[in-house]
Amino acid sequence: MPTPFTPEEHLADVLARYEASPDARLAELTSAAIRHLHGFVRDVGLTRDEWFAIIEGLTRTGQMSHGERQEFILASDTLGVSMLVEMINQVAAPGSTEPTVFGPFHVEGAPERAMGESIVADASDGELVTFSGSVLDLDGNPVAGAELDVWETAANGLYDVQDPEQSAMNMRGRFTTGTDGRYAFIGVRPVAYAIPGDGPAGELLFANGRHNWRPGHVHAMVSAPGHQTVITHLFDDASDYLDSDAVFGVRHSLIVDMSNGTCEYDFVLQPGT
Ligand code: BEZ
Ligand code: FE
Repeated sequence: MPTPFTPEEHLADVLARYEASPDARLAELTSAAIRHLHGFVRDVGLTRDEWFAIIEGLTRTGQMSHGERQEFILASDTLGVSMLVEMINQVAAPGSTEPTVFGPFHVEGAPERAMGESIVADASDGELVTFSGSVLDLDGNPVAGAELDVWETAANGLYDVQDPEQSAMNMRGRFTTGTDGRYAFIGVRPVAYAIPGDGPAGELLFANGRHNWRPGHVHAMVSAPGHQTVITHLFDDASDYLDSDAVFGVRHSLIVDMSNGTCEYDFVLQPGT
């Protein structure tokens, strides 16, 4: 071993010990993570105290995570990693609806509702909006049998799963298109809301001078046989925070006019499974 042993030689030594991994993909992920982590430590000249502070933050991130609260996902969201994973896994063909973050508040098995029905199950003082449009393929043909699974917060900015005052499945519904590909449902005009800020992910946001707000949006997961499922949102063009979404989910093509009680948007699916 040469003296002194340099950081470059140390990195090469560490990487070499992972070369015999029996799992090629795991080896690729592990060696890339090691290279980037070593690069980070060297680039910033990380001090011992800073490394311990990071370890302490990660420890608390794990300790805060349980069935209903996943602080690691929140950290991934607020660092822009969740959006990046969606970008490289759901690549939008030109003309197709752009995807965005899934978020932690989707619930499986939302009620199947008749076309045009309301998802507002509880009494609400929100502004009612009729969301409507078509599900189309890339050639502009209507897609029959497409399922729209939609969810949004109530007018108080909370999802049913966050709010004991709301009934289960309030502001959720699944709708299936007929031969005309049209869809319609009634919801409330989405409000901007704050994502949880009381854990390490929030602390990192606030310490960097960022906020934890998301612009008003309605979530939609649109799927149909023979087409790629798109997980996306529709954002209210009058909402605050469109330029500073805490989780980097805003895409220009998903910003829609929701004034006057209507929101018209066509979902365009690309072929696939
Ligand atoms: C959401 O839009 O539901 C969401 C997305 C990322 C983090 C928290 C909430
Ligand atoms: Fe949301």
